[in-house]
Parts: sequence; structure tokens; C-alpha cells
Amino acid sequence: MTGAGAGIGRSIALHYAKAGAQVVVADLNDDAGAETVRLITEAGGVAQFQHTDVASAKDTDSLVAKALSTYGKLDIACNNAGVAPPATPLAEIDDGLWRRIMSINLDGVFYGIRAHIPALVQNGGGVIVNVASILGQVGFPGMAPYVATKHAVVGLTKQVAVDYADKGVGAIAVGPAFIKTGMEDNLDPASRADLDTAHPVGRMGEPEEVGSVVAMVSAPNWTFVNGAYLPIDGGYLTR
Ligand SMILES: NC(=O)c1ccc[n+]([C@@H]2O[C@H](COP(=O)([O-])OP(=O)(O)OC[C@H]3O[C@@H](n4cnc5c(N)ncnc54)[C@H](O)[C@@H]3O)[C@@H](O)[C@H]2O)c1
Repeated sequence: MTGAGAGIGRSIALHYAKAGAQVVVADLNDDAGAETVRLITEAGGVAQFQHTDVASAKDTDSLVAKALSTYGKLDIACNNAGVAPPATPLAEIDDGLWRRIMSINLDGVFYGIRAHIPALVQNGGGVIVNVASILGQVGFPGMAPYVATKHAVVGLTKQVAVDYADKGVGAIAVGPAFIKTGMEDNLDPASRADLDTAHPVGRMGEPEEVGSVVAMVSAPNWTFVNGAYLPIDGGYLTR
């Protein structure tokens, strides 16, 4: 469970643990990850922390190895870690900003999937949940690298189904709309109000409203859902 130190990832990790999963909490931020482990343990769940930069294939391989050595098998993998760039017109995006967003939001998910698949096949099957975004379906002003990576994550999710459904491996992409996490902290009040009204429900979402759904779609009885994109968006994509 990557990016589990804060926001949406922490909520997903807490819901996984509540549902009975033994969780490896992975994050770049050690203190934040340790706090998620503490919250899970305090609630009676089982979790361990593993420092992970998803932009590093080596870290991601070590993360899967940690899950296998600690708990013996992998049933569910969730690629959640992601970052948003400062809003920048497309023609003004420099190589450094482009590469940074690609390396975390796209390379990170690819490294994850590549490491998860052998473990899931060995397990006789399992599911990979990729946290994309509404911006995996539509564009948004100033967000070109983010939009490109999230569309690609939706594509990679379909490809897992095409290549590995016959081995029992499923994949699903979830698409949150704007959720109240640290990622949205830099918004000024006017932008925040505009974003509220962009959702038919009239507000941004809570991390809890994503975590509960992700835990549900990761359950073993969702076996005939594969390669799908599920919006969790208060109706954002309906208009
Ligand atoms: N917040 C939103 O409005 C929103 C909407 C749609 C999709 N998402 C997606 O949900 C996911 C989680 O976003 P969030 O809002 O909870 O963000 P957040 O900033 O609140 O938390 C992200 C977590 O990921 C960790 N992280 C960052 N870079 C990392 C890396 N290279 N390796 C490992 N961990 C790393 C951070 O330390 C942090 O704990 C992201 O993929 C994001 O794109 C967020």
C-alpha cells in the first residue's frame, strides 16, 4: 500500500486493516508512515512500515519482498502514491517538472505492477488497485503532466487485465475527484469554492469516502471486474 502515510492512502490502509488484511504501509515519509502503522495497531489491526520511494524500482521490489517475507503472500496491492505539479501552462513545463511527475505517478505504478504480478500469480491470483483520478478521464487547466500520467495509469490497468486475467490477476483503477488532503492544501479560497461547485454534490470528497470504496473493490468477490475504471467523484464526470 504505497503513499499510505497521509490522505487517501492512509484511509485505504486503515480500511484494509479493518477488513482483516495484514498491511505493509509504504511511504517516502517515515514519520507519516509510522503514524499510519500506529493508527492501524491501535485499532487492533496488523501493519508494518517500509520506507519506499515509488520512483525507485529497487525500493518497489524491496517492498514486495517485504510483504512476502513478513506475511508469506500477496493478495492485494495498491498503487496510490502520487504527486500533483504546480499549475503550469503546457508550453511552459520544463523537463525537470515533466520527469518528476512521470517518475512518481507513472514509473512508480509501472514498477509496482511489474513487481506485484509474479507474487500474485504465485499466490494463485489477487488484485492490483491503482489510484488514478478523474484526471485519468478528462483534462484540467495547467495539469498536463498529471493528466497524462493518470490517463496512462488507466491504460496500464486495462493492460494488466489483458495480459494476466487468465492467471487470476485482476486490476481496477479508481478515479477520485477533488479530495480534501494535503494535495489540495495550497488552493486559495476562491479556487476551493470553484472546485466545490464543480462536483454535483456541491463539495470536495473526504479521504474516508475513497478509502472505504477501495477496500470494498479489493475484496475477493469482485473477481469478474477486471481492467475497469471506477469514478469516486461525487458525480464530477457526469457533466
Ligand atoms: N487529493 C485529491 O484531490 C486527489 C484526487 C484524485 C486522485 N488523487 C490521487 O490519490 C493519491 C493520493 O493522493 P493524496 O491526495 O492522498 O496525497 P497526499 O499528498 O495527501 O499523500 C500522498 C502520500 O504519498 C507519499 N509520497 C509522495 N511521493 C512518494 C513517493 N515517491 N514514494 C512513496 N510515497 C510518496 C507522501 O509522503 C504522502 O504520504 C495520488 O495518486 C493522487 O494523485 C488525489
